[in-house]
Amino acid sequence: MIIGVPKEIKTQESRVSVRPDGVKQLVAAGHRVLVEHNAGIKSGFTNEDYISAGGTLENSAETIWNDSNMIIKVKEPLESEYKYFRSDLNLFTYLHLASVPQLAKALCETNVTSIGYETVETDDHQLPLLIPMSEVAGRVGTQVGTYLLHKNHGGKGLLLGGVTGTRPGTVVVIGGGHVGLNSAEVAAGLRADTIVLDISDDKLNYIEKKYKGAIKPVKSTPESISEWVSKADLLVGAVLVAGDRAPHVVKEEHVKAMQWGSVIVDVAIDQGGCIETIRATSHDEPTYVMHNVIHYAVPNMPALTPYTSTEALTSATFPYALKLANEGIEAALTRDPVLAKGLQTKNGKVTLPVLQKLFPNLA
Ligand SMILES: NC(=O)c1ccc[n+]([C@@H]2O[C@H](COP(=O)([O-])OP(=O)(O)OC[C@H]3O[C@@H](n4cnc5c(N)ncnc54)[C@H](O)[C@@H]3O)[C@@H](O)[C@H]2O)c1
Repeated sequence: MIIGVPKEIKTQESRVSVRPDGVKQLVAAGHRVLVEHNAGIKSGFTNEDYISAGGTLENSAETIWNDSNMIIKVKEPLESEYKYFRSDLNLFTYLHLASVPQLAKALCETNVTSIGYETVETDDHQLPLLIPMSEVAGRVGTQVGTYLLHKNHGGKGLLLGGVTGTRPGTVVVIGGGHVGLNSAEVAAGLRADTIVLDISDDKLNYIEKKYKGAIKPVKSTPESISEWVSKADLLVGAVLVAGDRAPHVVKEEHVKAMQWGSVIVDVAIDQGGCIETIRATSHDEPTYVMHNVIHYAVPNMPALTPYTSTEALTSATFPYALKLANEGIEAALTRDPVLAKGLQTKNGKVTLPVLQKLFPNLA
């Protein structure tokens, strides 16, 4: 199989989809790997590393897309890449189609077979290709929030952990999954008062047992959200309903009740965001202010830490990429039900039930 590794083009995206050691394994298995010039440079991998691993360096993204049977990416294709779509193309990457309907349409119109990292799902409902980036984004979320609370970044000028004799800040995290708990752990580590709201009783019991009061679990209801959001110095959005658009669990009226100079980091923005006042921002312009509250909603937060993120992401994705290459797309999807959950478009249709509900005209 010919496998393409294009350079990511989303704003300040710095991750790469396959490391040189992955290229080496693919080549050893008899595949050809086309790597775009400088694709790995921001993650610490030089062009020479890829050549030494047996990859073929290409200057043109167009050649990579056109000559490859399978494109492995990190982020969803942007509009300037839609022109490369064709019916015998296979795509393995994050897709987040619920929040990018134009991409769902373009993939269907061109009959691309696309497998989204974020919906590959194990029997126990874990999302193994989302988890590593959720861990990164959760931790980064609190770090970014801490920085935005500083006076010179427009925040209220609060040190989240406080110091002796002062009140610590309050960090409220909505959604106690991988993003949420990683955010909460960093916040608690800074000695902020840390509250996690979730609808799952199992999650709340787990938090109670594991953190023994250092992180306070609260059942997520409209009333508890209203109460805790108004107290939040830093509010982190981390709700996920797999594959679907995130529900707006925090309403505009809740944001209006927050104190001047507080900060919202909505990590769930890749699925549309779970806060009513949120809209996607980018690493070039990461924030805006609404109702005197700083909003941050960058859909590719792990791009801030490519050394960590590329290693964590590719360690999770590579075994599946190798399987797709070695067994062939059809056979790999038929034999591996975990991977099959990642299939999002095929033969001109969206294949995931949540997407079929969201886009009935593409079902
Ligand atoms: N912006 C980024 O760079 C970035 C990076 C990684 C992940 N993400 C996104 O972050 C989001 C969260 O991912 P995750 O891995 O933590 O998901 P997860 O499945 O591990 O956790 C989601 C949690 O939300 C809870 N939940 C669902 N409905 C809720 C509600 N109404 N109120 C409170 N909690 C509710 C679930 O019970 C679950 O615990 C996803 O959209 C994911 O794609 C964004």
